[in-house]
Amino acid sequence: MRPLVGNLRLWQNFRRYIFQGFPHWVCFGFGMTYSQVNRDEREGLQSMDKVRFGNTDLDVSVIVLGTWVTGGWAWGGTDEKEARAAVLKALELGVNFIDTAPVYGFGKSERIVGEALKEWGNKDQVVIATKCGLEWDDRQNIRRNSSPQRILEEIDQSLKRLGVERIDLYQIHWPDDSVLLEKSMETLLKLQDNGKIRYVGLSNFNREQVEVCLTVGPVHSLQPPYNLFEREAEKELLPFCAEKGIATLTYGGLCRGLLTGKFSGKEEFPRGDLRRADPKYKPDRFIQYVKAVEEFRKIAASYGKSPAQFALRWALQQPGVTTVIAGARTPRQVEDNCGVSGWKISAEDLDRVEEILAKRIKTPVGPEFMAPRSQR
Ligand SMILES: NC(=O)c1ccc[n+]([C@@H]2O[C@H](COP(=O)([O-])OP(=O)(O)OC[C@H]3O[C@@H](n4cnc5c(N)ncnc54)[C@H](OP(=O)(O)O)[C@@H]3O)[C@@H](O)[C@H]2O)c1
Repeated sequence: MRPLVGNLRLWQNFRRYIFQGFPHWVCFGFGMTYSQVNRDEREGLQSMDKVRFGNTDLDVSVIVLGTWVTGGWAWGGTDEKEARAAVLKALELGVNFIDTAPVYGFGKSERIVGEALKEWGNKDQVVIATKCGLEWDDRQNIRRNSSPQRILEEIDQSLKRLGVERIDLYQIHWPDDSVLLEKSMETLLKLQDNGKIRYVGLSNFNREQVEVCLTVGPVHSLQPPYNLFEREAEKELLPFCAEKGIATLTYGGLCRGLLTGKFSGKEEFPRGDLRRADPKYKPDRFIQYVKAVEEFRKIAASYGKSPAQFALRWALQQPGVTTVIAGARTPRQVEDNCGVSGWKISAEDLDRVEEILAKRIKTPVGPEFMAPRSQR
């Protein structure tokens, strides 16, 4: 008699063979997962570069799928079906690293990621990073809260929404001045001990704050803002992380869409879209940034690449950058953002980038406006 697991595999292979070419909904009806249905397609497309994530045992794609927009909040809403399809497209293209947070859509982003993971089937192949330390009220006023009590509440909610038993990377979203950093760190270490999380990450922390956390235990990653137009992290944080062996997943790699080259500088953003308040998107500055992107577009074209691919590739080539998060609303955006493997920007073109920035951006501004206003 064959062992049960052998029979199962036989049945799975049989189903895959029989249903080849059938529409997805037929296959799903017979209990197959997205990854089983699309296995051949996926294997053909998996060309995304992978990297060892600092001192962890994780091998992750250099592009991380950012899912703030998936939750809709601060991005003028979301189309859930499209958002799920975007997550599945990323997985299909070899992205195995997803960044989310409870606050993104107040649970919605984590829930949609969880649904997509379920549909995908092979949850173990995907590295999930989420966050803790922000809370909100009924009117969606957000405040920082990294107290042990809040973290212990949040972890269970995140596990449930994501439909996983363990979070691969658990990050404190923003430093909370009202709680001793040591206390928050101790709580994360407890979660690690009891198997609810694998690795500890910090987001939006400065060097001194990371150093305090390091006195309590290992910090595996840092998530700072970083892109061609927002370079603060390269002064101190990225070299510091490189020195300490802390992996980075830098955020805002496309500067909230600006670096994709889709804007003319005249756009007005609807209520509920954070770009409406973003000082980079205010009339005088907006056009400076757009003109710079037009010049990047020409360099990108010489590699046969889009402005988005050029911007993400640029970030990946900077010292101290391990992985780059790119947010995407649609499968099409995901496809564009995944074109970073198998090519490099030359040293001469990296120099040209600096010249363009110096020539075009006369009144630069950082990413500070994104910090939640309310501090306890
Ligand atoms: N730790 C933190 O505090 C923090 C803060 C910010 C972000 N993050 C993380 O980093 C991720 C990425 O940052 P981000 O979402 O702020 O911004 P981003 O990656 O710089 O830009 C993402 C946005 O640009 C547009 N876009 C993306 N790819 C495109 C393409 N190929 N063509 C045209 N438009 C495209 C989409 O918005 P539209 O379609 O609306 O234009 C998308 O939502 C977030 O999702 C989140 O996971 C973390």
